Amino acid sequence: MAEQNLTTLQPSDARILCIPDLEKAGSEKLERSAREFYNSGSTDQVTLHSNNLAFQKYRLRPRVLRPVSAVSTSTSCFGREIAFPLCISPAGIQAIAHPDGELATSRACAVKGVNMAVSTFATHPVEDIRAAGVERDPGIKHAMQMYTMRDRALQRRIIERAQGAGCTAIFLTADSPVLGVRYNEWRNDFRTPIGLGFPNLDMSSEYIRTKSHEDGFTTMNDPDHSWEREVAWLREVAPKMEIWVKGVLTAEDVKEAVRWGVDGVVVSNHGGRQLDGVPATIDVLAECAEAAKGSRGSFGQMGHWRDFDGFIEMSCGDAPEDDMNASSRMSMAGEDEVSVNCVSKRTK
Ligand SMILES: Cc1cc2nc3c(=O)[nH]c(=O)nc-3n(C[C@H](O)[C@H](O)[C@H](O)COP(=O)(O)O)c2cc1C
Repeated sequence: MAEQNLTTLQPSDARILCIPDLEKAGSEKLERSAREFYNSGSTDQVTLHSNNLAFQKYRLRPRVLRPVSAVSTSTSCFGREIAFPLCISPAGIQAIAHPDGELATSRACAVKGVNMAVSTFATHPVEDIRAAGVERDPGIKHAMQMYTMRDRALQRRIIERAQGAGCTAIFLTADSPVLGVRYNEWRNDFRTPIGLGFPNLDMSSEYIRTKSHEDGFTTMNDPDHSWEREVAWLREVAPKMEIWVKGVLTAEDVKEAVRWGVDGVVVSNHGGRQLDGVPATIDVLAECAEAAKGSRGSFGQMGHWRDFDGFIEMSCGDAPEDDMNASSRMSMAGEDEVSVNCVSKRTK
């Protein structure tokens, strides 16, 4: 695997007080192609920047003289109580930043009392990722993220493995009929580093490295997906798992999700990495939550940069959960779960 000059980031490190600090410190440790893979969005990055800027339009309206000595940040997600309304969204190829990759994320989620979604492009097997979390907290829940795949037998195998490992839900990423146009990946000829495979896809490092990320995605992914075909198929293959659709940005699609009886939606623009020019996730959360009213649940999701972003989100969307993906991916370039813990503590 690619050598990274990793030095230790300690939770007590005064340089790292907020997520931008963490992004800076993590970025300094990564080679250009990895850094840009993690940090960049698609084409002109309009949506990527909107995601962060949009939060600045919102202000909190605080109420005063309320007793706050005994408040609780806990809520529920996948039928378990989580410590605070944040979970980790699926992010691929985490072992570029640290060899422990998704194992460390899973351990950190367990220690902090939240749930985690595992990317199809995880660099560790879903069984090991789940075991790493369960060892620290048997109550942790995992979702398996997936795409609609051309090879349905392989897609079925991934689901069966996730189910066998004890994952609770499938997140079907619906915003990626094709891979977003990411200039950085073209310019850098981004390849997964030597030694890292995609074990959940049964793909070795040697095989992955024969293709660009985009070619690999196009070979694997079936753009001919539909609500009708995917939801029914997933229900049949994974009768015991919750089915969530990730990448919804409109009230119309939330209504479709309700109509097809999915268990949840992840309101998301994929961190600005897919179709550029779509709205910031926070700006559509209210319309999506309104469309979900009366149904079983919605899941607001965005990259957080400040502690009050979470409050804004909850008030816009009435959302029971959201994610802290931005913090997880950058902290990984520190020292595995120590850094993940460090930021989650400060964003809490
Ligand atoms: C480096 C990186 C890798 C990602 N990999 C995946 C992935 O494999 N599957 C997926 O559904 N989303 C992936 N995402 C998107 C995140 O799950 C999440 O949607 C995004 O970071 C937050 O933006 P949102 O608020 O629009 O959801 C990735 C994001 C980043 C930054």
